[in-house]
Amino acid sequence: MNRPRRNRRTPAIRSLVRETSLSPSDLILPMFFHEAAEDTPIASMPGVTRWSLASLVREAGEAHALGIPAIVLFPKIDESLKTPGAEESYADEGLVPRAIRSIKAAHPGLCVITDVALDPYNSDGHDGIVRRDGRGDLEILNDETVEVLCLQALCHARAGADIVAPSDMMDGRVAAIREALDGEEFTQVSILSYTAKYASAFYGPFRGALDSAPKEGDKKTYQMDPANTREAIRETLLDEAEGADMLMVKPAGIYLDVIAKVRETSTLPIAAYQVSGEYLMLKSAAAGGWLDERAIVLESLLAIKRAGADMILTYFAKQACGWLSPVREPGA
Ligand code: PBG
Repeated sequence: MNRPRRNRRTPAIRSLVRETSLSPSDLILPMFFHEAAEDTPIASMPGVTRWSLASLVREAGEAHALGIPAIVLFPKIDESLKTPGAEESYADEGLVPRAIRSIKAAHPGLCVITDVALDPYNSDGHDGIVRRDGRGDLEILNDETVEVLCLQALCHARAGADIVAPSDMMDGRVAAIREALDGEEFTQVSILSYTAKYASAFYGPFRGALDSAPKEGDKKTYQMDPANTREAIRETLLDEAEGADMLMVKPAGIYLDVIAKVRETSTLPIAAYQVSGEYLMLKSAAAGGWLDERAIVLESLLAIKRAGADMILTYFAKQACGWLSPVREPGA
């Protein structure tokens, strides 16, 4: 008789037949920071802090020491620096380039990824440049935005970013950024494209963290409709053709089918972003004493890898490293 349970009999056998594994080297830590000198707990994301520049450098080093290979930088820009043209997004003395230089000086081996999009810099709170059309409706301009994104990517590359990650969902931005980078000899800077970024309600806590919610309208004319998967394949093929080095699916845990489809479509490495709302759901269930935090977080991360992600952006990255360190099951 066929007895699949034989392969589950002991921890040793289970470890031999395990198909998916999770390690600190799979994790990328998104980090929030601001110009102010104090560290501020983020009300919408319990357990997550918006750091001062000095703390950011220290915390990034701690993450690296735990075995996390990469961080992503998310700045909160002072309201006074936000403009309709988002000029601050490519200022060489801006918050992000200063952060990149400080982190790279202190921790040269840590991979620094930057978010390329205009929402933290734009007085309209959109990822692109906004214009009002004849009827008074908002329009997010594509090609004008891509020009600014190229300036932003170049600014990050000059400061020493290893990877730029366009999260804006404008058409054609991967090819344009690749050309801009290559044109200034930044041929070694990678592009991690947010390939399938959905217009998700699960980004709510993040926008609270950065005060970056759109002032008017929503992001549905550029972020993807949660109902669609074929469109994710279309975006995958385009990003590949445009020269992306890595692809991203976002959110992660409730879009596992999309991760699996993108995995089947492309040979490129795939990142998945366990976003702020996913973090908040797990955190609050654990805080209520309803679910076991360690178990649900590790299971949620493993599921994202099992679906086909090679790497995961998660606010749990540091905690997960602590939980992963004895790799043996109890009793093994
Ligand atoms: C901005 C950006 C967002 C996130 C990452 N980059 C918010 C948005 O698109 O509105 C969300 C991350 C999260 O929710 O954790 N381009």
